[in-house]
Amino acid sequence: MIRHFLRDDDLTPAEQAAILDLAARLKQTPYDEKPLAGPKTIAVLFDKPTLRTQSSFVAGIAELGGFPMVIDGNLAQIGVRESIADTARVLGRTASAIVWRTFDQSRLQEMADNAGVPVVNALTDQFHPCQTLADLQTIREHRGDLKGQTLTFLGDSACNMSLSYLLSGATAGMHVRVSGPAGYEPDTELLKKAQQIAATTGGSADFVADPVDAATGADVIATDTWISMGKESEAGDRAEIFEPWQLNQSLLGKGADGAIVLHCLPAYRGKEITAEVIDGPQSVVWDEAENRRHAQKAILTWLVS
Ligand code: NVA
Repeated sequence: MIRHFLRDDDLTPAEQAAILDLAARLKQTPYDEKPLAGPKTIAVLFDKPTLRTQSSFVAGIAELGGFPMVIDGNLAQIGVRESIADTARVLGRTASAIVWRTFDQSRLQEMADNAGVPVVNALTDQFHPCQTLADLQTIREHRGDLKGQTLTFLGDSACNMSLSYLLSGATAGMHVRVSGPAGYEPDTELLKKAQQIAATTGGSADFVADPVDAATGADVIATDTWISMGKESEAGDRAEIFEPWQLNQSLLGKGADGAIVLHCLPAYRGKEITAEVIDGPQSVVWDEAENRRHAQKAILTWLVS
């Protein structure tokens, strides 16, 4: 059976832990393992802007002995010039796996249903599971075993990062709290799904309306832009609505001793996070950015072998 990584809960708790172990090993010895030797081609497609995702996949695929075939979504016009299903059938005959950043999750699902090779979510409107895998790796490095730790996300709790934290954190047995303004809560079904997973792992998953309550005692405090790609027209209203959820020194001070700060980047200093916090001693955002490469190498290795 072909496995895909379309959302965080595509991995069982045991699989997630094994992939995080592999990511840690690949970080220690980045050039030793070549599961993509051939080189096998990995198609990497972008329908939205990218910096970290493109660079980390390209470098990581090369380190694994493979060839990254980067495709600009503006040129390919997937779903416009050609159906997603036909694109999938063509790419599946050339590439050993497909990595795609696109809009609605249904597009990615259609690719996976027709490609005949593993498909990886490089961000959709709903999920960003490669980022959260890198985040879990970073938390392990700085705070140890994930089980029982509290991870708080502040900001647009309806966005892809929030939903991916709910699913990935619950899978890891963490206590996940997402907090944002009214109207920006996580999808109800998705929250329920995270709670079901958490019930099997000893974790928990909750929406906590008040940002101070959400941050209090947290081992990890994460945030993300208030304006996700595709939401640019709502920028004006959002700055005011989200202001109480800004990750500043006062909110960070509510966290546990030695709490760490995560941000998937790009960051907007003075908006969702202050310069003092992102550039301060509790921030581990550069380790987090580096870990994209290691975590993605691990998921590709697992899917292709
Ligand atoms: N929520 C953000 C994540 C960027 C990596 C977005 O979708 O734009």
